[in-house]
Amino acid sequence: MKPATGDDSDLLALARGAFAGERDPWANAANAAALVYELLPDLNWAGFYFLRSGELVVGPFQGRVACVRIAVGRGVCGTAAQRRATVIVPDVGKFPGHITCDSASRSEIVVPLVSGERLIGVLDLDSPRRDRFTAADAALLEPLAAELVTACDWTLAGIDGF
Ligand code: SME
Repeated sequence: MKPATGDDSDLLALARGAFAGERDPWANAANAAALVYELLPDLNWAGFYFLRSGELVVGPFQGRVACVRIAVGRGVCGTAAQRRATVIVPDVGKFPGHITCDSASRSEIVVPLVSGERLIGVLDLDSPRRDRFTAADAALLEPLAAELVTACDWTLAGIDGF
């Protein structure tokens, strides 16, 4: 399990700094995944899935190799995408349809990326610790997702609807 290497209250300010003057979605998503993984403790995966040709396709991330494609409505990622709402799963073993990428994962939070009416994708964090994620994590990650959405020119990324 990865220990904290910083203060997660710095996350938004550091992300704004990393995105400054840069509109490329892959560049900004890659730096966002790196910041989340570095600053939040007890993670084994942090990264993005983006909506491409009607499916969520893995994007920039930190962690072990992940499943590449997830249908909207499937797994925790697809559920958050369909609901366009953050989903916190305290115990992935009790979430029907959870998709196992790393067998070490025990809990998960998924935050949707939405621009107006458009679903862009999701930000997904996994932890090897049960009950790792709380409303405080949602309150930290939702503004980060919003910041990323506004920082990027999504027409550059082949995301559905742009
Ligand atoms: N567990 C996710 C799949 C993605 S990996 O955790 C990186 C899900 O159920 O959607």
